[in-house]
Amino acid sequence: MLDLAISRRAALMGAGAAAAWLASPARALLQAAGQVQVPAFVDQLIARMTLEEKAGQLQIMASAWGGGAALSLNPPGSGSDFSQQVEEARRGLLTGVFNGNGARMARIMQTAAVRESRLKIPLIFAADVIHGHRTIFPVPLAEVASFEPDLARRTAEAAAFEASGAGIDWTFSPMVDVARDQRWGRGVEGGGEDPMLGSLFAAARVRGFQGADLRSDAHLLSCIKHFAAYGAAESGLDYNVANMSMRRLREVYLPPYKAGFDAGALSAMASFNEINGVPSTGSHWLMTDLLRGEWGFKGFVVSDYTGDEEMILGGYAKDGRDAAKLAFLAGVDMSMQSGLYRQHLPGLVKSGEVPETLLNESVRRVLALKAMLGLFDDPFRRIDEKREAARSMLPKTRALAREAGRKAIVLLKNDGDLLPLPRSGKRIAVIGPFAAGAHDLVGPWVVYGDDSKAIDLATGVRNVVGPASVTVTQGSGVAEPLPGGIEQAVAAARGADIVLLAIGESYDMSGEAQSRTEIVVPEPQQQLAEAVAAVGKPMVVVLKHGRALALEGAVADAPAILATWFLGTETGNAIADVLFGAYGPSARLPASFPWKSGQEPYYYAHKPTGRPNPPGELQPYKAHFRGIPNSARYPFGHGLTYGKIAYSGLALSGPSLPMNGSIQISATVTNSGARAAEEVVQLYIHDRVASITRPVRELKAFRKVALAPGQSQTVRFTLTAADLTFYGLQDRPVIEPGTFDVWVAPSAEAEGVHGTFELAA
Ligand code: BGC
Repeated sequence: MLDLAISRRAALMGAGAAAAWLASPARALLQAAGQVQVPAFVDQLIARMTLEEKAGQLQIMASAWGGGAALSLNPPGSGSDFSQQVEEARRGLLTGVFNGNGARMARIMQTAAVRESRLKIPLIFAADVIHGHRTIFPVPLAEVASFEPDLARRTAEAAAFEASGAGIDWTFSPMVDVARDQRWGRGVEGGGEDPMLGSLFAAARVRGFQGADLRSDAHLLSCIKHFAAYGAAESGLDYNVANMSMRRLREVYLPPYKAGFDAGALSAMASFNEINGVPSTGSHWLMTDLLRGEWGFKGFVVSDYTGDEEMILGGYAKDGRDAAKLAFLAGVDMSMQSGLYRQHLPGLVKSGEVPETLLNESVRRVLALKAMLGLFDDPFRRIDEKREAARSMLPKTRALAREAGRKAIVLLKNDGDLLPLPRSGKRIAVIGPFAAGAHDLVGPWVVYGDDSKAIDLATGVRNVVGPASVTVTQGSGVAEPLPGGIEQAVAAARGADIVLLAIGESYDMSGEAQSRTEIVVPEPQQQLAEAVAAVGKPMVVVLKHGRALALEGAVADAPAILATWFLGTETGNAIADVLFGAYGPSARLPASFPWKSGQEPYYYAHKPTGRPNPPGELQPYKAHFRGIPNSARYPFGHGLTYGKIAYSGLALSGPSLPMNGSIQISATVTNSGARAAEEVVQLYIHDRVASITRPVRELKAFRKVALAPGQSQTVRFTLTAADLTFYGLQDRPVIEPGTFDVWVAPSAEAEGVHGTFELAA
C-alpha cells in the first residue's frame, strides 16, 4: 500500500531534504505513533478477571444520564436507567459510556467503577466530538475547504482541550469516509471526494486530538471511522451496500483510514455497511487480515452503534449470539450499544466457539489503551467540573472558530466584483430562513454545542455596518412557504441597496440517515429567490448546506454566491469577515457542485470513457446527460479570491521523470487585481495510457500562496515516480512508464497551465 502521507511529504521536498527527513527525529516520532505499550499489570489483571468481567470490558453503552443531549442523536430507546448503569459499572459489566453529559456524570460513574467494583478498573468516557465540543467549529467538510490541514489539527486540538476538561477520554472522530455521491448526507462529517486531500485532513485531525502523549489531560484518544467505505453507499442511501472492485477500494476509499492510523490513531470504528456482500462488522479480511495484518494496527476496534446486531436484519447473522460471534471473530474488539458482547461472549467462550485467548487479546488491547490514557494512574485525570467550566468557550477558542469559519467559505461566483461589499453607505436586506435566529448555525453532529451561543448572519452583518442600515426578513420556511413571506421579502429588497439571500439546507437535512434524492435548494426557498432576484437589486446568495448542491434558476444566476456550509459558533462574524473584505476568501470546494442532481455520483477524478465530449458544445453519441456537459458547475478545487489571478509559465525540470528520480514542476501565479489574495495552487496529473484506465485528473499536490496586489510568485512542486503509483491488474501497486499530462491549475476542471512529461522505463 502506498503511504500517501509520506510520499506527499517527500514529493514536496527536494531529494536532499527527503534524505534529511528520513534521518530526522520527527520521522522517528511518526514511526513511534500508533505503537501500544502494555504494562505488566494488565496481564495480571486479566488473569484475575471472570469471563463476565472480560466481556464487560468489551461493551460500551450510550450514557443514560438524564438530559444527556446525545440520547436524541441516536435511535430512541438507547438510554436505560442511569442508576442501573452505575450498578453495571459497579459490577464490572461496562467498559465505559458515550455521549454522557460532562464531568459531573463521569465522576459519579467513575467513582462507582474505581471505588466499588471488584477489580477497580477505570471506565473510559467517549463522545462524538466531531467539530468542536462547546465551541463549535465548521463542519468537517467545510474545514477541508480551507485546504489547510494544519487548521484542522488546531481545531481538533482545541476541541480536545474543551472535551478533555469535561470528562471525555475518547472521541469517535475523525470520520474519514471518502464521499463521492452528494445524495449521501454524511459527507458533511468527512473529508470530501478526494482521497489525497482527505488523507491529509485525517492525519491532521488525529494529531490534533491525540497530541504527542495520550496521557495528557488536554488530549483524547481518536477513532478512525467508519471502517470501511461507508461513504460508498450505493445511490447515496445511508447504510446501503458498498459494492466495488478491490482496486477502487484500495485506491480511493482506504487511503484516508490508513493515513489516520499512520498518524497514530489507536482506535477504529467498524462501518455499518457491507462491502461486496460481507458486512464490515463481520469481515475478518477487513478487521484482521488488512487492518492488523497488512497495516500493523495495534489499537482496538469498536462496532458502530448496534452494528453487530444489525448483521441479523442484514442477512448475515442468524441471531444475536451468532452476530456477537461473527463480529468478535472478525476482529471487532468492542461492541457499541447492542449489549450482545456481554450477553453472549462468556457463553461463546464456554462452548469453545470463541477461544479465550482471543477474548484476552481484545481485553488486553482495551486495558492497554486505558493505561496509555493514564486512567489507571488517575481515573479522574479528565474529570474536573471546575476545569470543565474554565476551558469552555474561551475567547481564544472562539477566535479560532472565527478563523476556521472564514477560511472555510468558498466564493463560488463574483460577477462584476460585487464582493466585497462597502462597509458603510448602503442599506442591506438580509433575507431568508437562515438570515437570523439561533438555529442551524452549529450544524449536524453536535452533542454539546449550542445554537443559542452562536452568532447568526444578521448579527455578524450588524457588527460590521451597524444596526441602522440592516433589515431582516425571513421570507420563507426551510421546506414550507411562509404566508406573506415572499411579499415581505420583495418589499425589503425594494427598500435596500444590496440583498443578502441566506438560503439552503437546514442542519438536519444532512448528517446520519439524511440522504436526499434532489440535492437542490428546497422549492419554497427557490421561489423566494426568484421573487427577490426579480426586484433587480445586487444580490449575494449566502448558501447554508452540508453537501454540494445543484444550484438552479435565480440562485445559480445571482452575481455573487458564497458557499458557507455550517460554520459553528462564529458563523455570522466569519461570513461578515468575507462579505465586507476583512478577510479575502481562500477556500476551495472539497466536493464538486454538479449541474443537476441526476449526475450524482459526480466526482472530478472520473474516467474518460471512450467517447468523451470535447470541451464546448455537446456532441451526439458522446458521454453526457441530455442538456448538460459531463462536468461540474463548480468543480472540486474551485474557489475565487478578491484578487485577479492568472497562471502562466509552466516549466518542467526536464522532459522526463526517471524511475528513481524526480521531476520539478513550476508555474507562475500573478495577482493583477487591486486586492490581496490567497490562491490555492493545485497540481493534477493524468496518465494517458495504462494497463488500467486512469482518471481524467488526479490531485497530487497543492500549495496556498499569499499574493499582494501586483505580485507574482513561482510555485514549485516535485513529483517522484511513487506519486504515479496505481493499483494494477494484480491489485498490487504498480508504476508504469508512459506519457503523463500535468496541470497547475486553480481547480480540477480549469485548464490553468498544462504540459506533459514521460515517465522513463
Ligand atoms: C454513528 C457514529 C457515532 C455513533 C455514536 C452512530 O449512529 O454512525 O458515527 O459515532 O452513532 O454516537
